[in-house]
Amino acid sequence: MSNEELQPLQGMADIGPPEISRWQELEAEARRVLALYGFEEIRTPILERLDLFVRSLGDSTDVVQKEMYSFTDRGGRRLALRPEGTAGAIRYLASKGQDAADARIYYMGPMFRAERPQAGRRRQFHQLGVEALGPPSPEFDAEIIALHTDLLRSWGISRFTVHVNTRGAPGEQATAGRLFREHLLPRQQELCDDCRRRFDVNVLRILDCKNPLCRAIVEAVPPPTDFLSPESKEYLKRVLQVLEAFSIPVTHNARLVRGLDYYVHTIWEITHPALGAQDAIAGGGRYTLEVAGRSLEGVGFAIGMERALMALDAEKPAVESGRAPLVWLVSLGEAARLENLRLLQTLRRHHVASRMCLDARSVKAQFRAADRAGASLVVIRGDAELAKGVFALKNLSTGEQTEVDLSELMRQLMQLRSSAPKPEAVP
Ligand code: HAM
Repeated sequence: MSNEELQPLQGMADIGPPEISRWQELEAEARRVLALYGFEEIRTPILERLDLFVRSLGDSTDVVQKEMYSFTDRGGRRLALRPEGTAGAIRYLASKGQDAADARIYYMGPMFRAERPQAGRRRQFHQLGVEALGPPSPEFDAEIIALHTDLLRSWGISRFTVHVNTRGAPGEQATAGRLFREHLLPRQQELCDDCRRRFDVNVLRILDCKNPLCRAIVEAVPPPTDFLSPESKEYLKRVLQVLEAFSIPVTHNARLVRGLDYYVHTIWEITHPALGAQDAIAGGGRYTLEVAGRSLEGVGFAIGMERALMALDAEKPAVESGRAPLVWLVSLGEAARLENLRLLQTLRRHHVASRMCLDARSVKAQFRAADRAGASLVVIRGDAELAKGVFALKNLSTGEQTEVDLSELMRQLMQLRSSAPKPEAVP
């Protein structure tokens, strides 16, 4: 097999030990914080009807235009791997009717976007997403931003910036876009190729362009938020006021747009200085989504897990994982091997993580296996120990070896079990 055959597809990654324990810690901590805010987990399919995404995210968005993994299946159905979680989550909630009127749900899992891979940008990446249904309310939006920052802090990430802005009420975006376009018109020919195309189909996306000349042009004209109604501006002001009351520092960024069409009123993005060009760890906002003739209003966000881990690595480099200490049983002779097999099961029933070589091997090979697996204690039993009813207990980090009887062995192993690292307290 060539090396390439051993690798996952470009822009996708295997996640295994020891890295996986970091993911598990973040997921466990997130579940704890989300429960404090009354959220429950859902798991929706990774594959959905293509149409769901086109209608929810908007057919002129980059995700729909350029980044979806879509195909026609054997039955002629047009399907897509989910590029984000909101559309599927809202489809699920719409299917529950009135029972989901004020649902608070979260999801964790892989998302797919056919983007050009680079640091922090993958074709398969993972999101932790949160959706809360309810009509527009500045207090509600602020509460969800508070949850968002609490989550990041509970993971140990604190050097982030929250950028907040508004899209205005549903009917106002078209007018704001039109007036923004009028201001840009005199300089339209100076824009980059992409932005000249955006000028007609989705003018607000020009605000997201990284090209220095486009940025300078955009900075020189009034932002679309200037053209929103006084009510929409008041809504944003109230969100900012409540966040201040919560002591959550945020920046009002009048040129923040977000790349998905379903947003109304409050939108936000969280950036981190350790991430380079792809500096958004997370984004969210309030939305109205139509599914099967039902209109659902809510607010939510998604955190890119790979990017959150990059930010965390920069702030708090990985420490020895919180894995339970492993005990390895070493046997000398057939009789001892059988007795050790029985002991192995007893230890596991007492929640002591333990392993042994199940086949007959030399002592040296058994120690090598213990070492490879990262065992911290080895219990050695041969015919002599069996006859005396004792065990040789070796600590692999200190090299110290003692002889103990069964009750002392169990006492020490139970102690080892309770010395496993515990998660940190809530900040
Ligand atoms: P989004 O801004 O498209 O929003 O994605 C959220 C986060 O997912 C981004 O901030 C980023 O951290 C991560 N992300 C996106 N694309 C990639 C990629 N190619 N590689 C690595 N990470 C990536 C949404 O998806 C909305 N559904 C969020 C939301 C939920 N709004 C309301 N509810």
